[in-house]
Amino acid sequence: MGINIAIDGPAGAGKSTIAKLVAKEKGYIYVDTGAMYRGLAIHFIDQGIRPEDTDGIIEACRSAQVTIQYEDGNQQVYLNGKNITARLRDEEVGNMASKSSPIPQVRKKLLELQQGLAREQDVIMDGRDIGTCVLPNADVKVYLTASVETRAKRRFDELTQKGIACDFEEIAKDIAERDERDMTRETAPLKQAEDAVLIDSSHMTIDEVVAAIAALCQ
Ligand code: DC
Repeated sequence: MGINIAIDGPAGAGKSTIAKLVAKEKGYIYVDTGAMYRGLAIHFIDQGIRPEDTDGIIEACRSAQVTIQYEDGNQQVYLNGKNITARLRDEEVGNMASKSSPIPQVRKKLLELQQGLAREQDVIMDGRDIGTCVLPNADVKVYLTASVETRAKRRFDELTQKGIACDFEEIAKDIAERDERDMTRETAPLKQAEDAVLIDSSHMTIDEVVAAIAALCQ
């Protein structure tokens, strides 16, 4: 059993940016579980299934094989043997992942993959249910959050920098809706584990958050 660090929190809290940096500093493998849900979502989209079609999604799970490989330390997601990493961040994919991830059969499909990775090596794994469901015995658990306004501002700046036109209010509304879906679903809802350390990054720099988490991993 390797060292297991669990980082949970809402969308846009900076989990992946922070986890990647802590992984580098500590020599752990970074495991992005959201990317796995996005990988399955690509399968559902490519099968022509609508996000509302729960039965279709459950059926399509049977023909999907999501696997992970690391290239130069970066996680690559494979769907039925094909590297689909470049498509993971598409808006449509995020939307399908958000709507399909509450389905128990979808979660079950990825649980063993996630737990297997943590069994074999030192990992820092981020998601929504890592400290509560996937790695309940993790050595360190962090619940990383930030206000809706802060998260919307970060996303707005990111898109604007890329030259993508966007509306702040719309982004904030989308984030609040995603929080609501993640926190109120029946299976593995997003919540702070009892033994998780709460870090609110609203008024912290990336370096400060990385240092705070690295200090917990001594
Ligand atoms: O973190 P992300 O935006 O890449 O995650 C995509 C979707 O997957 C998100 O809507 C919530 C879901 N997810 C989940 O239910 N459980 C996880 N451990 C990780 C992500």
